[in-house]
Amino acid sequence: MSVTTASHPTTSEDTAPGATEHPPVEAGPPIQAERAVVDWVNSVAALTTPDAVVWCDGSVAEYDHLTRLMVESGTLIRLNPEFRPGSFLARSDPSDVARVEARTFICSASKDDAGPTNNWRDPVEMRATLSGLFAGSMRGRTMYVVPFSMGPLGSPFSKLGVQITDSPYVVASTRIMTRMGSAALSLITGDTPWVPAVHSVGAPLVDGAADVPWPCNGTKYISHFPEEREIWSFGSAYGGNALLAKKSFALRIASVMARDEGWLAEHMLILRVTNPGGKVFHVAAAFPSACGKTNLAMLTPSIPGWKVETIGDDIAWLRPGPDGLRAINPEAGFFGVAPGTGAATNQTAVDTLWGNTIFTNVALRDDGDIWWEGLSDAPPSHLLDWEGKDWTATSGTPAAHPNSRFTVAAAQCPSMADEWDDPNGVLIDAIIFGGRRGTNVPLVVEARGWEHGVFIGATVSSERTAAAEGTVGELRRDPFAMMPFCGYNMADHWAHWLSVGEKLGARAPRIFQVNWFRKGEDGAFLWPGFAENSRVLEWILERVNGSVPAANTPLGWKPTSEGLNLEGLGITARQKEQLFEVDPEAWLPELDGIEHFFAGFGDRLPNALANQLAEIRMRLKFSIEN
Ligand code: OXD
Ligand code: MN
Repeated sequence: MSVTTASHPTTSEDTAPGATEHPPVEAGPPIQAERAVVDWVNSVAALTTPDAVVWCDGSVAEYDHLTRLMVESGTLIRLNPEFRPGSFLARSDPSDVARVEARTFICSASKDDAGPTNNWRDPVEMRATLSGLFAGSMRGRTMYVVPFSMGPLGSPFSKLGVQITDSPYVVASTRIMTRMGSAALSLITGDTPWVPAVHSVGAPLVDGAADVPWPCNGTKYISHFPEEREIWSFGSAYGGNALLAKKSFALRIASVMARDEGWLAEHMLILRVTNPGGKVFHVAAAFPSACGKTNLAMLTPSIPGWKVETIGDDIAWLRPGPDGLRAINPEAGFFGVAPGTGAATNQTAVDTLWGNTIFTNVALRDDGDIWWEGLSDAPPSHLLDWEGKDWTATSGTPAAHPNSRFTVAAAQCPSMADEWDDPNGVLIDAIIFGGRRGTNVPLVVEARGWEHGVFIGATVSSERTAAAEGTVGELRRDPFAMMPFCGYNMADHWAHWLSVGEKLGARAPRIFQVNWFRKGEDGAFLWPGFAENSRVLEWILERVNGSVPAANTPLGWKPTSEGLNLEGLGITARQKEQLFEVDPEAWLPELDGIEHFFAGFGDRLPNALANQLAEIRMRLKFSIEN
């Protein structure tokens, strides 16, 4: 079998099922497979007892073969190649539509090492539970062995993993999302560390039982063993529950590796921004799930002369080095939320999705193309909704599931910077923390320094959206946008950030807070968002450049009255005031909430953060008295 570089885009045939011959089942492991990998694969096969074991090479032929199999089995619907070549629609089971945080576990030896924000389970007990669940869980199915690299193959920033899965949908998605296949497997030699990740949909086919399009199990366990750097996921085939390279590896396990090795694995997009003078900056930005990260990552600036290019849309691995903090995007694709992605919000994403895309839980048009709320102003007159039911505008339900997704190769995105897969990463000039806050949080402020920046990161909060379970609209604390993704005690994560800042000293990036979602007295958004967010980036990068002054507030440095370019936006003086308003009467209870939240971490809370809280409280009280 040939060694490939898992190059993108993906498909060699769009319209002719059956055209490509590819042997799916190998007699044994590929020649380059390291003994430890083979032994582990054999042990998982002995436990799960699949009908066949396939070592994936990551080739186009293999991808085409798998998608053809899934079209035959009903897991995928081939979209009309006239409109969406090489693309497919998957409809999940209605019970399996999002990450299940309540069923996501950190199994460190000590409960305190998982911390109060994670679901902890004793690793010995969890292993016993999983052994029971995985025993025979792949009967009647094929077990796929999926080697992958997070980050460019061979980069000093990159890490290797091998996922075992009984879901061909997961294999095809992982091929888009990572550098997957033989080349990654070849890099696992001798002592090279690699992360084993075992996934089963938990739906064995016994006694000739017929398969269903989206097999899954009502019992779900997304389990992480941070000390062993191991992942076991059972029962779901959806997104972060099942594409284990993404949230499970690149955030939960990688955050632990990063803590131990002195770097950072963060839930951040990465941008390359060029100012009208040709100066290049790189920005890493953390936002809670579904706060428009993909839109910011693919921003088309509204202001003349500025250029924004994409390095990553979801995850950043950042390493302090001699010249500062360098970052890579460890992924190779986007698993983006579809609803709300349209010409008005993100034309670049729409252009990215021209073909070679797997859509999940979007609506199907009568002409064989896809649709979701926000893709166009008016919906087509008739659709099949995400469950395959007839839908018209009067149906009263969303046509696409609010957490429906597209999976597409990053290389297909027109705004990708050439440097997006630079093995040496890019040098970060500014870090941004954002959230979805209707009140209190100003449009933009700059932190007073690294410690204040870490406080801002630690106190990120957001109104809940559909990306995970929970009541939409409710306020949720989401420190560093890592609440569901930090593989260890969150307070230790803050301490780790403080120590990275100390190490970086004067080479540390500047830290900012943004909030695109503040509302006025009338309940309407005060800020137009989307392309206009480039104006906020302009201010941030002018601050980095030392070319604009700023005004002091109890929450940090804000633009002076002329500092932020609002020309042509039609924002009134009152709206501008509200965008930056710091109301001490509203902030003092907010700080009480933060104090309460911090108290949950007991003596693991770094003193620096308690001090930041005290200082801000004092500044706010002082501003009331004056
Ligand atoms: C995502 C998320 O899917 O953060 O990226 O939920
Ligand atoms: Mn995310």
